[in-house]
Amino acid sequence: MKKLIQGGTVVTAADTYQADVLIDGESVVAIGQKLDVTDAEVIDASGCYLFPGGIDPHTHLDMPFGGTTTADDFETGTRAAAFGGTTTIIDFCLTSKGQTLNDAIKIWHAKADHKAVIDYGFHLMIAEANDSVLQQLEQVVNEEGITSLKVFMAYKNVFQADDETLFKTLIRAKELGALVQVHAENGDVIDYLIKEALEKGNTDPIYHAHTRPPVAEGEATGRAIALTALADSQLYVVHVSCSEAVQRIAEARERGLNVYGETCPQYLTLDITSLEKPDFEGAKYVWSPPLREKWNQEVLWSALKNGILQTVGSDQCSFNFAGQKDLGKGDFTKIPNGGPLIEDRFGILYSEGAHKGRISLNQFVDITSTKSAKLFGMFPKKGTIAVGSDADIVIFNPEVTRTISATTHHMNVDYNPFEGMEVHGEVVSVLSRGTYVIRDKQFVGTAGNGRFIRRNKFKRP
Ligand code: URP
Ligand code: ZN
Ligand code: ZN
Ligand code: ZN
Repeated sequence: MKKLIQGGTVVTAADTYQADVLIDGESVVAIGQKLDVTDAEVIDASGCYLFPGGIDPHTHLDMPFGGTTTADDFETGTRAAAFGGTTTIIDFCLTSKGQTLNDAIKIWHAKADHKAVIDYGFHLMIAEANDSVLQQLEQVVNEEGITSLKVFMAYKNVFQADDETLFKTLIRAKELGALVQVHAENGDVIDYLIKEALEKGNTDPIYHAHTRPPVAEGEATGRAIALTALADSQLYVVHVSCSEAVQRIAEARERGLNVYGETCPQYLTLDITSLEKPDFEGAKYVWSPPLREKWNQEVLWSALKNGILQTVGSDQCSFNFAGQKDLGKGDFTKIPNGGPLIEDRFGILYSEGAHKGRISLNQFVDITSTKSAKLFGMFPKKGTIAVGSDADIVIFNPEVTRTISATTHHMNVDYNPFEGMEVHGEVVSVLSRGTYVIRDKQFVGTAGNGRFIRRNKFKRP
């Protein structure tokens, strides 16, 4: 049966207007004032915004990391994402040296198939760029629809790749039409600082932040940009946390380089003092890059407002405080890096961003959905509300105030880094390709209904 959403205010990256939205099957088929339809289920959205479903371009679900595996898998993680207003995620498919890319991708499909409740795509990690890998990439991009490649410049002896790998990846990505993503921190310098800290007996969570200074992020960001310019390629810097990195991206864009940046809700709202919480609670805030001094938040908001940064990803990578984070008691390097962030990304951006006037309502949509659809080859099927687009729609009540808490969140983890934060606005219902996943704040989705998205090649938006 068709669905007719009546009385809501449609918000896209470009416009805000009152209209009815008609959905037939998986798509939006009409948008207009007082649509005259008789054979449709009517959904009353008066007083609510209709946003395109959020797109989270940065998640780690069911990922082995730091000697353990993330607490959220594709089922619990995508369910929590949907509660929070996200209808598409792009997860990072890990690879290792010597493994074929196909084997790695198969493993990631097995994690997600039959589990995801919303649609998903994959980015592919590049661990090495030998001739075989560079050749296999043709099939990955052209047939698998995986059109973004991730290079880690940090996590020495784990994920870290060298500059040669990054440079070769940039060149190959340009040939194939893929976007290269970097985790930009100088892993060698961080490794030195970590050893030095441990030798001095500095083992508390706060030293996670002290051994990963902003300069290490700024330097790696600048280096990745320099290599991108040399390769005449395209670059997307994930989880930008500080002014040093923002400055490099701003300069690159000023020069006309094809460089983009993402930040995360945690860097926009939390700061380094969280890592100093007593009783090892600082471990809840250990992820990389680390939280920074508070003044950086202003720089990040202004970079989003001015288009220097284009997206906000969650960097969801959840570990329980009890049983996982505590692996690092007495040695901060053993605290698994990452946090539970997938559920609150969209809501925090609305409340702290649009509601507080730091960004416009249309920028909120652009940053949480449209820009990711464009940069990652899904637009206009995803990322907007338009005739012909997938009916991925969030019905959002801006009038409600609520408090974030682990006692009410839906992630499979025992704490929430935003515990106690009051936010404006609430997701009421969520449709994924025309089917309810969340209906009146209740989960009504089905594991396995999420579909893998073969994405289009990178095109400069
Ligand atoms: O600490 C983090 N961010 N964990 C996930 C892996 C990464 O670097 O994005
Ligand atoms: Zn990272
Ligand atoms: Zn990440
Ligand atoms: Zn307020």
